[in-house]
Amino acid sequence: MRIILLGAPGAGKGTQAQFMMEKYGIPQISTGDMLRAAIKAGTPLGLEAKKVMDAGQLVSDEIIIGLVKERIAQDDCAKGFLLDGFPRTLPQADAMKDNGIAIDHVVEIDVADEEIVKRMSGRRVHPGSGRVYHVVFNPPKVEGKDDVTGEELIIRADDVEETVRKRLAIYHDQTKPLVSYYQQAAENGLNKYHTLDGTKSVADVSAEIEALLA
Ligand code: AP5
Ligand code: ZN
Repeated sequence: MRIILLGAPGAGKGTQAQFMMEKYGIPQISTGDMLRAAIKAGTPLGLEAKKVMDAGQLVSDEIIIGLVKERIAQDDCAKGFLLDGFPRTLPQADAMKDNGIAIDHVVEIDVADEEIVKRMSGRRVHPGSGRVYHVVFNPPKVEGKDDVTGEELIIRADDVEETVRKRLAIYHDQTKPLVSYYQQAAENGLNKYHTLDGTKSVADVSAEIEALLA
């Protein structure tokens, strides 16, 4: 199964990806996690991406498309994949089509901006795995520690309110056009398109995704 998770920053893409990977037996391809790994490793890509990401801007289409094409070509993607945070511009979506990479389902998680700003202040992440928590809505078993490794959780550098608002503005401007892009594609029979209410609890959103993809 080839799935795109579409939604604003903080809509819950990474959170839902955690259960979907297991449920559908497909790898999560999070361009955000890949870029953060490059920053941590201090690669030239990481050095370039850090400034852009910390400012809440988008990394260039050329770099991102290259990263994703390379990742999708790996063996574990043969059965499908879960795209989280990609595509997020029209050229990125076109690149998929131009490379003959078909999509089965586009799942849009809808959450209003003000709710997102509230959520982001409580987000904690495990940098090694990309696992996501929230201090109130999805707390780890032990405060400040990852459930699986017990390692320290961190606050993402781009989660300060000013940067979150900038990311939301860019989402509305550059990524939101993908909603009609994939709805149109659905009308032409190229993919299925689903929208769900992302303000429900994490478990309820998961249940809804399961029902939609059944
Ligand atoms: P990326 O890492 O993709 O960030 P994003 O899209 O801004 O999305 P987030 O990871 O912030 O949110 P999410 O939807 O995964 O929410 P989460 O599950 O964590 O990208 C980061 C940066 O990299 C970009 O700004 C850009 O610079 C660059 N980049 C990445 N991809 C790119 C691309 N394709 N092109 C160009 N540049 C790119 O949840 C958020 C919080 O809410 C958590 O605390 C969670 O616990 C909580 N939560 C989740 N669900 C619920 C719920 N139902 N109820 C209550 N709380 C919830
Ligand atoms: Zn994420």
